[in-house]
Amino acid sequence: MKILVVGGGGREHAIVRALSRSPKNPELLCAPGNAGIAADARCLPLDLADPAAIVALARDEAVDLVVIGPEGPLVAGAVDELEAAGIAAFGPGAAGAQLEGSKAFAKRAMLDAGVPTADYRVVRSLAEGESALAQQSYPVVLKADGLAAGKGVIIASDIAEARAALAVFFTERRFGPTEVVIEEHLAGEELTLLALCDGKNVVPLAPAQDYKRIFDGDAGPNTGGMGSYSPVPGVDPAALERLTDLIHRPIVDLMASRGTPFHGVLYAGLMLTADGPKVLEFNTRFGDPETQTVLPRLRSDLVALCLASRTPGGLAGVAAEFDDDWAVTVVLASAGYPESGSSGDPISGLAEAAGRGAEVVHAGTAERDGSIVTAGGRVLNVTALGPDPASARDAAYAAAALINFEGRQMRTDIAARAVARHREASQERNPQ
Ligand code: AMP
Ligand code: GLY
Repeated sequence: MKILVVGGGGREHAIVRALSRSPKNPELLCAPGNAGIAADARCLPLDLADPAAIVALARDEAVDLVVIGPEGPLVAGAVDELEAAGIAAFGPGAAGAQLEGSKAFAKRAMLDAGVPTADYRVVRSLAEGESALAQQSYPVVLKADGLAAGKGVIIASDIAEARAALAVFFTERRFGPTEVVIEEHLAGEELTLLALCDGKNVVPLAPAQDYKRIFDGDAGPNTGGMGSYSPVPGVDPAALERLTDLIHRPIVDLMASRGTPFHGVLYAGLMLTADGPKVLEFNTRFGDPETQTVLPRLRSDLVALCLASRTPGGLAGVAAEFDDDWAVTVVLASAGYPESGSSGDPISGLAEAAGRGAEVVHAGTAERDGSIVTAGGRVLNVTALGPDPASARDAAYAAAALINFEGRQMRTDIAARAVARHREASQERNPQ
């Protein structure tokens, strides 16, 4: 069996590693991949923006399955084109990918399906936005409608900041021509729930928590994600089923009723508010870095799960099994991230970190004269497993401390809350 993974970040490296653990022992290709993925899969050049190029590569290499990592090719219809060419592909078609590709589409779908989310309105111009701001309570959240790599969301604490945000979207056009979603600010803790969908059935994966802001204590601008852990205290299997019934199943039913059944991963980013869980966003792919945390815990065969997701009803009666171990992932980013990122700086300590038993996957790296250098914003992800959150966290940070490069940025509080909560829960069970 020959599988092509499309993409070249930490998520794709984690997907390649998980596929390589399949009993089907697949031959793995990755396009474009990166310097780290090259050790685990044959990497090939590819223009991710061109679905026809993905089809041509899959055909030339006669692959049995294409697994698409990032949102861009999904929104551009790569899965539709692959399946039309008779090539099996994991992920939604363009219609399903709109749940991620357009925030306004996703909001309307949530209303239609009765899925709880923040109150909102969509504005199409600076003038319309300005008049909407006068009626808002603050803080308020402003979001570019289209894809923005996790960076198109601005939380404005007052009307002046909100006006400045409108200027970023409508005057500067930092995210191109776009509509803007203005939405109620929700307070609470975030939760990521990934689920596999076959157009009809929904199979939840292990819950995870992501750290979106660049600095400790959730300060600074939003990023693609600076670390994560799994599982999440309080989200037991019964809670996971309830949340999946509340959020994923109504959306999958809605998409099926519209004649655009949803296949692939439906990622729900939730806020656990005092009024119950509410959806912040849908993504239609594996999360980054949540995948680096969740897949090392997966015991089921990822190849079988991906294949089953393609067929309506393929996931009926299927469950995804996970290790009891906890996993913690720490992201190492380069100087300037998230506004920019730096490249070409030599990275030291990779072998030492892997020698400590951590999973080190590459996100933005390249090879130069036989050594590994930085190549972009998020550079590496270090994941460690352990029987409790403290040991997983300590092991991840011990390994991450061995890796260095110029300007390295790393949050030091990933999973700290989970450690504290787990300790409290254990003390309640076993009072001294
Ligand atoms: P999104 O891309 O919509 O998930 O937004 C990215 C991040 O912005 C989320 O993970 C939250 O941290 C934050 N965010 C988005 N929407 C809201 C909201 N309505 N209230 C509070 N924070 C939000
Ligand atoms: N970690 C957030 C995302 O994958 O969009």
